Amino acid sequence: MSRVVKLAVIPGDGIGPEVVAEAEKVLDAAVAGTDVVIDRTRFALGAARYLETGDTLTDDDLAAIAGHDAILLGAVGGVPGDPRLRDANIERGLLLKLRFELDHYVNLRPSKLYPSVPGPLADPGEIDFVVVREGTEGPYVGNGGSIRRGTPHEVANETSVNTAFGVERVVRYAFDLAERRRQKLTLVHKTNVLVHAGGIWKRIVDEVAAEHPDVAVDYLHVDAATIFLVTNPGRFDVIVTDNLFGDILTDLAGAVTGGIGLAASGNINPDGAFPSMFEPVHGSAPDIAGQQKADPTAAILSVSLLLDHLGLTEAARRVTRAVEADIADRSSDPRTTTQIGDAITARLQA
Ligand code: NAI
Ligand code: MG
Repeated sequence: MSRVVKLAVIPGDGIGPEVVAEAEKVLDAAVAGTDVVIDRTRFALGAARYLETGDTLTDDDLAAIAGHDAILLGAVGGVPGDPRLRDANIERGLLLKLRFELDHYVNLRPSKLYPSVPGPLADPGEIDFVVVREGTEGPYVGNGGSIRRGTPHEVANETSVNTAFGVERVVRYAFDLAERRRQKLTLVHKTNVLVHAGGIWKRIVDEVAAEHPDVAVDYLHVDAATIFLVTNPGRFDVIVTDNLFGDILTDLAGAVTGGIGLAASGNINPDGAFPSMFEPVHGSAPDIAGQQKADPTAAILSVSLLLDHLGLTEAARRVTRAVEADIADRSSDPRTTTQIGDAITARLQA
């Protein structure tokens, strides 16, 4: 009996299709010889689609995507500043809409500094942590508005939403993850200033911590966290934080671990009510699109997260090991996107 995995593939814009092609190659190699069959549907979504049809994400698109087991996404977005995209709002209308509608309440972003990868820190030590960023609440829910726009009396509000339900479920996920890793959890917030939002996070972390006596719990204000991410990143194992702080910290985390070409992420609905979505952290990189200059490693590591999420743990591990071996062998000679994908695929087939 074979197991069919229905995969929605959204290559997207710019370098998205280039890196997704390599990620799919690696995915196929990782499941070859197992009973897993990948049944894919391609969705043409993103800036190019918007320019053609005026649609960002229709209800039909959403319903069709929701019928899959998982989603692999490249990157979406056009050239920043393109006047034709001024009203498109791909970020909110497509990416955030998918995350909210599919209840991706865990945004998972592992950060690891692989041996021999040059990073900006002089003496980084070992870096291997995961940021668990809340994905459906916080200041990103669109709970705001403005009046008297463009006048000296303009009022603009963007209110952060934090519910006990929403905070508890992501905090529980983070503790479970810490149990399986090095048993350390750091809550990052700004409880001294954001007393209401910070208060609920702190209380819930303390409550759930009582059920996990093996996990050492640490707290940092977000500003202090940015210092330690640079001066002592080895102190982190699992970081749990809200949507906005997580967005910022994960860019910094990506930078200290060797850059945007390596950072993978999962937008996860742990309950399995909706398909989870796996994507490189980077965008569509219009400056290098179509030139085979993009590093597909982040997209390939996203495939490893996808396999792990589907319970295909061994296949996930094989992908990560193939990537690690490839990274260890990298020289300064530039390789094309396809060459990197082929090299990693070849290691899986060896
Ligand atoms: P970006 O991540 O696309 O590019 C930033 C810089 O990193 C560029 O110089 C680019 O060439 C380089 N870069 C990115 N990925 C790379 C890779 N795999 N290998 C080598 N170099 C890489 O961010 P930017 O320029 O701010 O945004 C471009 C477009 O992407 C915008 O439309 C933006 O809205 C969208 N975007 C989409 C995201 C997504 O789909 N999740 C995330 C971030 C941005
Ligand atoms: Mg971001």
